Formats: sequence, C-alpha cells, structure tokens
Amino acid sequence: MKSTIDTPLLFIGYMGAGKTTIGQALADKYQCSFIDLDEYIETVTQKSIPQIFEEEGETGFRQYEYLCLQQALKTYDMIATGGGILTHDETYQFIKDTQVKAIWVDAPIESLYERVKDDTHRPNANKKSFESLKHLYSKRISRYNEIAFIKISSATSLSETLNEIKIKLFANDQY
Ligand code: S3P
Repeated sequence: MKSTIDTPLLFIGYMGAGKTTIGQALADKYQCSFIDLDEYIETVTQKSIPQIFEEEGETGFRQYEYLCLQQALKTYDMIATGGGILTHDETYQFIKDTQVKAIWVDAPIESLYERVKDDTHRPNANKKSFESLKHLYSKRISRYNEIAFIKISSATSLSETLNEIKIKLFANDQY
C-alpha cells in the first residue's frame, strides 16, 4: 500500500472542528511540513487575529488570508485554514482554480459550539449564541462540501480520525 500522501493538502471546516490538531498529527505521521494559516497570518502581520478584526475588520483579515494562503502553499505540505476562508470569493475561486486537495473536518454543530463558545481568540464565535453560530455553519457547509474531496469526522478519537483519513485518502487514490 502507498505510504506517502499527495500534497499540498488543505484542512477546511468550521471553527472548532479540529483542523489544526488533525492536520498537525497527520503531518507528523507522514513527515510532512505543516502550518496553521491563522498562525502564519499572525506571524506575517505581527498582530493577533482579534487585533486584525478590530483594526481592519473582517474584510482586512480575509485579504491577509487570501495572500498568506498563496505564500503558505509555496512552502508547506499541509495547511489548516480558518473556518471562514471560503466565504471570501477570491480565496474560494483561487482554491477551486488551483485544484488543491482539501479535507473537510466536521463534527456535530452542538460539539463545535461547545468547543468555540466564548473564545476570545475567535472574533466570529466570541459572545455569539448557539442559534447564530448554527446559522453561520449552515451558510458555510455548501462550500465546504463543494471544495472538499473527502469529509471526515472529528467526533471520534484522534487515532480513529487519522485512520479514517488514511482509508479515505488511499481509497480515493485507486481511481
Ligand atoms: C474564523 C475562523 C478562525 C479564524 C478567524 C475567523 C471564521 O479560524 O480564521 O477567527 O470566520 O470562521 P478557526 O476555524 O481555526 O477557528
């Protein structure tokens, strides 16, 4: 059986889905380089995500996300993206056009909500009600679904999730 993974690989999905944990673990397992795009943006801008939202608005943040994704793809094998990355049409179109492979990491909205509610580092989740985060989730899923070539659940243990990815990735490779 093949033991390498075709890269680059993006991890997409809602806030709190576990993209970074799973992406980092998969990268370690297959000796690939990995970056969390939010961290990359914070390093490049020397600002925290809440500070960017505060000073430049979500529009400013989405522009950094677009530019940093293009840079990160030149350097890293695996990239965990922020939950709203596909809401920005330019970035969505760029990902579609470059045909970079994406794994959609998902979990029930109730779990996602529990993981992100009142997180001061996530401006789009902080102080939001369950209803409003559920509404945002519903608006986003069609693009996750469209872009992803496989979908995995983070509702199970990390080792089970990694195994699910392995099975789905290599099953996909046969065709
Ligand atoms: C956002 C998700 C965050 C981060 C920013 C905006 C969103 O990333 O990019 O706070 O709009 O869903 P995570 O998905 O890692 O929380």
